Formats: sequence, C-alpha cells, structure tokens
Amino acid sequence: MTKIETDQRRSLRDPRVQAVLDRLHRAARWDPLRFVRLVPKVASGLLQRKTFPEAVPPEAMKDCYIPVSREQGRFLYLTARALGARRVVEFGTSFGISTLYLAAAVRDNGGGMVIGTELEPSKHERAVAHLEEAGLGDVVDVRLGDALATLKEVPEPLDLVFLDGWKDLYIPVLELLKPKLRPGAVVLGDNIFTFRKSLRPYVEYLQSGKNGFESVTLRISDGTEYSCYLG
Ligand SMILES: C[S@@+](CC[C@H](N)C(=O)[O-])C[C@H]1O[C@@H](n2cnc3c(N)ncnc32)[C@H](O)[C@@H]1O
Repeated sequence: MTKIETDQRRSLRDPRVQAVLDRLHRAARWDPLRFVRLVPKVASGLLQRKTFPEAVPPEAMKDCYIPVSREQGRFLYLTARALGARRVVEFGTSFGISTLYLAAAVRDNGGGMVIGTELEPSKHERAVAHLEEAGLGDVVDVRLGDALATLKEVPEPLDLVFLDGWKDLYIPVLELLKPKLRPGAVVLGDNIFTFRKSLRPYVEYLQSGKNGFESVTLRISDGTEYSCYLG
C-alpha cells in the first residue's frame, strides 16, 4: 500500500474532519450553561415523576450538544475499525459528533453506511451539514424522526450499534435492531453511570446471558456498556 492510500485510511487525521470535530467539541463545552437555563423545565418534569432527560421536551434541548467525549469518540472509531464495520446504526445523533467518528471509521473500512437518527429537526439539519463539511456525507444517512419509526428499515447485517438517545428507549431500539445484528456485532450504550437507575434494566438485559449477549460496563467517559451479540 502506498503512503497516500495509507493516509486515506486515517480519516480522523484528515484536516477537514479534525476541523469540524475541534469546533464542535469546543462549542459543546458551553453545555453546562445551556443546562442552567433548563432547570425550571427539568424541575417541573421531575415533579411529574419523569427522569432526566425524558423530563425535558426535546425541543427545549435543541441547543444542547450532550456529545461523546473525544476519548469516547476515538473508542467508537477504533471499535468500528477493529470490527471492519460497514453497517452501523446510531440512536441519538444530536449535532453529529459521534456520527463523525463512526463515519470516519466506515470510510476507512472501505465504505458503507452509518444510519443515524435525530428527533429534533434543527439538530438533524446541522448534523447533516457538519458531516457534509467534513467530507463524510456519502457514508451517512441521518434520519429525522423517532428512532422507533426511522430505524424500522435498516440494511443488514449490522456490525455495530451505538445507543445514545433518551434512556427509556435503549431496550426497545435494541430489540428492534436485534434481528439484524450479525453474530459478533457490538452494541455500545452511553451514559451508564450518569443514568444508573434508568439504565439498570438495560444493563441487566445485556449481562444476564438470557438475551443473546455477553456484556461488560467500561469506565470510559460516564460509563459505556460494551456488548457483543453471540446469537
Ligand atoms: C445525548 S444526545 C446524542 C449525542 C450524540 N450521540 C453525540 O455524541 O454528539 C441524544 C440525542 O438523542 C435525540 N433523541 C432522543 N430521543 C430520540 C428518539 N426517540 N429518536 C431520535 N432521536 C432521539 C435527542 O434529541 C438528542 O439530540
């Protein structure tokens, strides 16, 4: 393989990809201030016995990135590279930060498709623009709408699934996608420590050995459930 071909398989080092990721990670640092403005809405949702973030209507969170960290993004990239993943599904795209890491890996694996999904129209529009700007638009299909509808039709077999939308839907989305997973497919679930209580049923579902998976919680960012589908 020539040097140029080797470099083409390192999309995270592509200046266009790096520039978009740097800008978005920097912009996401202001999320704590954006959350402060949501306090009254969260309080009223919690009084109605909802859990965060389900307590807040998605449109109220339209400016919040709530992204994966750089470390977690690199972990997504490396996992997808190690799997040789060409078909990836992501639940919860937001502004597209995690999608950029996944799309870079799919591109470097020789091409394929990352299917993302986002409920909030303005986030969807900006995610699509960010992926285009990074030169990764041809390996992504970010679908607008509720994941339980938008992910009904996805190409199979799936190599990798990343769950990062609202936590009450991790199990329903996983069950929707499970018939399409290839043996050895990996499912990554974010925010296991932050939403320990709401995600306990999800962790039990994966770690019980009763549902076709073996699984471990990794101390990456705020807890990443790493699950392998064994059929
Ligand atoms: C934690 S953020 C995702 C962050 C993104 N993965 C990243 O790293 O940049 C969760 C996103 O999931 C979206 N979401 C929540 N429920 C959804 C649903 N049912 N269908 C599609 N998207 C949903 C929210 O609007 C929000 O933007």
